[in-house]
Amino acid sequence: MTIAVPSPIHENYPKKATAVSLYSPTPDDLAVPSPIHENYPKKATAVSLYSPTPDDLAMLKRLTGINDETKLKEHVLRVQTEAYEVYPYPCIAWFQFISYRISNYPFYNSILTIGKERPGAIYADLGCCFGNDGRRVIADGYPMENVVLSDLQGGFAELAHKLYQTTPDTYPVPFLAGDIFDPTFLSPQNLTSKKSSRNLKPPVLKDLKTLSPLRGHVSIIHAAWLFHLFGELKQRQLASLLASLLSPLPGSMIVGSHLDLPDTEGNKKGGFRWSDKEMMVFAHSPTSWRALWEDIFGTGKVRIESWVGQWKSPWATSGGPERYLHTWKVTRL
Ligand SMILES: C[S@@+](CC[C@H](N)C(=O)[O-])C[C@H]1O[C@@H](n2cnc3c(N)ncnc32)[C@H](O)[C@@H]1O
Repeated sequence: MTIAVPSPIHENYPKKATAVSLYSPTPDDLAVPSPIHENYPKKATAVSLYSPTPDDLAMLKRLTGINDETKLKEHVLRVQTEAYEVYPYPCIAWFQFISYRISNYPFYNSILTIGKERPGAIYADLGCCFGNDGRRVIADGYPMENVVLSDLQGGFAELAHKLYQTTPDTYPVPFLAGDIFDPTFLSPQNLTSKKSSRNLKPPVLKDLKTLSPLRGHVSIIHAAWLFHLFGELKQRQLASLLASLLSPLPGSMIVGSHLDLPDTEGNKKGGFRWSDKEMMVFAHSPTSWRALWEDIFGTGKVRIESWVGQWKSPWATSGGPERYLHTWKVTRL
């Protein structure tokens, strides 16, 4: 007997996955790197999204040396096309590589103060993409010789030189290309262990090939729009890796920003948010974020501060899900 009716009949299935409560991946699922970038558009064509703030535009002119705004825009668009070929992150489509988000943090001045007042204070920008925030702190007075940048994609380092019309000789800030989760790039360290593998002498930044020699030597660690790329277990692993890099001196800080959740009764342990491609991804709330860092450093060892505000995606359609930007600071006490 032949059964002619195809089965099952999918037409009746719901067209949107709205049942957030059904999302409960196992720890193994969460260990899988996220998000799934295959869905991202392959070309950055939305020229209309080019609209730098007056402050960013002034900094961009100063750092590129291009004052003609038409020429500057053409230059940025050319670099953007190449950056999209390196990796099609939405933040590249949104021109975030020409925004200097660090200068908008409410504690920005305290970063510059450490740079000025603590001799040799190292600033490390991790998952830095073009390293635009590193360029910004240097422009605002952070000693260039104490800055180090790192990203998975070495191609962004070359494009940054193209964008800012510099070379490794004229702008000798080290850019370490590597995967922060790769133990040969940053070897994990147990923070609670009494035996420290920290080399007491700070490394010479220009000689660095990996992040490991920086363990215990970084005064300011900046990780912007990095954590939200990963699931819950990877976020914990990342926090622990960053903690291992932090200098033991009081006032040393790990700072950053990314998309997260606001503190509500239901979000105390974190939860799930919509990503731009309508996937559900893990997100912390300020309460779960605080618990994470206290767990890593130990209660009373760090002060954790959070600022959460609504954030509108440049790709958002009206009536879409609300998104929240979490700016945070973990300060060694
Ligand atoms: C969304 S972009 C944010 C860039 C920049 N920090 C900013 O605020 O605009 C995330 C960056 O993290 C980098 N990244 C992703 N996974 C990484 C990893 N495992 N190790 C190091 N960098 C990584 C990407 O290459 C990308 O440049």
